[in-house]
Amino acid sequence: MKIIDGKLVSSYYKENLKTLISSKGINVTLAVILVGNNPASKIYVSNKTKECREVGIETKDFYLPSDTPENELLNLIKELNNDNEVDAILVQLPLPKHMDEFKVLSTISPSKDVDGFHPENIGKLAVGKPFIEPCTPKGIIRLLDYYEIGIEGKRAVVIGRSNIVGKPISLMLLHRNATVTICHSKTQNIENITKEADILIVAVGKPNFVKRNMIKENAVIIDVGINRLEINNEYKVVGDVDFEDVKEICSYITPVPGGVGPMTRAMLLENAYQLAMHRKKMCK
Ligand code: GUN
Repeated sequence: MKIIDGKLVSSYYKENLKTLISSKGINVTLAVILVGNNPASKIYVSNKTKECREVGIETKDFYLPSDTPENELLNLIKELNNDNEVDAILVQLPLPKHMDEFKVLSTISPSKDVDGFHPENIGKLAVGKPFIEPCTPKGIIRLLDYYEIGIEGKRAVVIGRSNIVGKPISLMLLHRNATVTICHSKTQNIENITKEADILIVAVGKPNFVKRNMIKENAVIIDVGINRLEINNEYKVVGDVDFEDVKEICSYITPVPGGVGPMTRAMLLENAYQLAMHRKKMCK
């Protein structure tokens, strides 16, 4: 079994990006909006802004209380859409329950949509003409390519159908000519399907969900889960895959932490750069 080292691969992409940003002398500014105080979201957002600074991307951070009226958030997004200094906008998910996620994401200008979650950008992805690709799926494809793991003709099984990961990674694998099956909470006899997977992508948010009886020998396993467990008064982050249980059977596996997570952040930085280049008409 080989470990897919997301820290190593993300450093490679971040170094490349840092060089590109300084050599082009381009200013890149990302606006980050966090509503409420979800502890996991706070950590994600602070990691994201820290890594922006490391590669030379400026950030404007907006922390709004959890009871912010939806209209205030929409007005802030509209202001940022019109702010010439801002190249890219990120609204951290999940949003508080009183907010309509679709409405919020649809308000971000598609040309500043760093996550690629705007329906126009998802639509472009769906027809195979992506303008900007969602960060986690983009990072997964980069990992597979870095390790020269073939996608074409392979049987890929995705567990999870979220708009953030499951749906877009399924589309991206399909565009790379994999045969893709999507499983979810209502799938019956899921192990019969996952056992067929050459490439298994797991994004369900359930700690240690995937066990050895669910995978084929020599499968490639990509674990997107980040689950915080409290064990003996200590917090431990575990994935959606029971790493110890499957490690002897699979050919490659992403660890948690240190697998997909760092790649998501690296792709966010790359997307911010791409949007800035596009806005400043520095690329085709
Ligand atoms: N919450 C969990 N993952 C993501 C992501 O990739 N982008 C945003 N904006 N929020 C998230």
